[in-house]
Amino acid sequence: MAPQPMVSGGVYDHHSDYQLRGAISEIELVESLAAKLAVGEELDGAVIADYGCAQGRVTNLLIGHAIERIRADHLEAALTVLHNDLLSNDWTTFLKHLSASDSYLSIPGGPITPLISAISFYEPVAPPHIVDLGLSFAAAQWLASPGPADAGTALYFDQLDGAARERMADQAHADWTTFLRRRADELAAGGRLVINLMGVPDGGTAAGHDAWEMVRAICVELAGEGLLDPADLARYVIPIYERTEEEVRRPFAERGSASASSWTTCRSLRWRTPRPSRTERTETPPSSPAISPRSSGPSARPASRRASPRAAQRSRNCTSASSPDSKLMLTRSPSR
Ligand SMILES: C[S@@+](CC[C@H](N)C(=O)[O-])C[C@H]1O[C@@H](n2cnc3c(N)ncnc32)[C@H](O)[C@@H]1O
Repeated sequence: MAPQPMVSGGVYDHHSDYQLRGAISEIELVESLAAKLAVGEELDGAVIADYGCAQGRVTNLLIGHAIERIRADHLEAALTVLHNDLLSNDWTTFLKHLSASDSYLSIPGGPITPLISAISFYEPVAPPHIVDLGLSFAAAQWLASPGPADAGTALYFDQLDGAARERMADQAHADWTTFLRRRADELAAGGRLVINLMGVPDGGTAAGHDAWEMVRAICVELAGEGLLDPADLARYVIPIYERTEEEVRRPFAERGSASASSWTTCRSLRWRTPRPSRTERTETPPSSPAISPRSSGPSARPASRRASPRAAQRSRNCTSASSPDSKLMLTRSPSR
């Protein structure tokens, strides 16, 4: 059972309203960080990066808002937008979003240059120190590799027990540390990063718990009927790990770690990820930390609080009620 490429044809886009609502709930935050670029100064150019952009629905929305906010102060600034996802992503659908009439490319003003960085975000995704505003939505819970290979019928991290669960927790910690180190390398001085990822609330259960219990029961049944090799089932645990708030904070608390020296504070605002409703369980729900740098220059102007027509339109397209709203704010150390 090897991990498969993203299904093509826009399938993720059509089954990710839950994630989209999570992104919509962070529009104001993204706009407020975009507003802090070059406050009171001329801005010649800026680089925006989206880590784990998938097929483009969320990325087009959030980056559109960021660009509109930047344009409000810096109409002619040259903007570069770097979209990152795996080589196996459905880039065809992604490019259709870029060429659609509501693409951020149609926002008036200076030049906007879109770039694709088709490599794992556990590797360098951008040259050092170039990213002014980074986004990563519903992606950083994906690990670099699957979980323990000898885990019986367990398919999801919260179905693991004992040593196997610990091994996956260690793996998730190592990956989170790597993710933070890579992003710290890529951020420009004064750059900001918003991360939204799945998380387990204190004393709560994983957002994916129910869905993966169902999948496991189906797989066990298929194995019983001879339609699935039990050895395949035993050696695959999906590479997703929902971290607790404590686990998210851990790299920042480790004395001498790169995260501790690159990011100075880690302030939790909320850590709560509602489970998706039954109709939403086709993809994974996120919770949301935000990272921003310490040196934001002289008094930043407050961002516009008005929902833009773009957000309002997207909101109307989302009909079901729940949405992820956990949030964590980190501050980037000025030293490198
Ligand atoms: C749940 S989707 C989120 C997509 C989009 N950001 C959103 O909010 O709807 C997770 C995305 O992360 C990508 N991803 C997972 N592991 C990755 C990695 N190591 N490097 C880059 N992208 C990765 C997946 O390919 C997928 O497109």
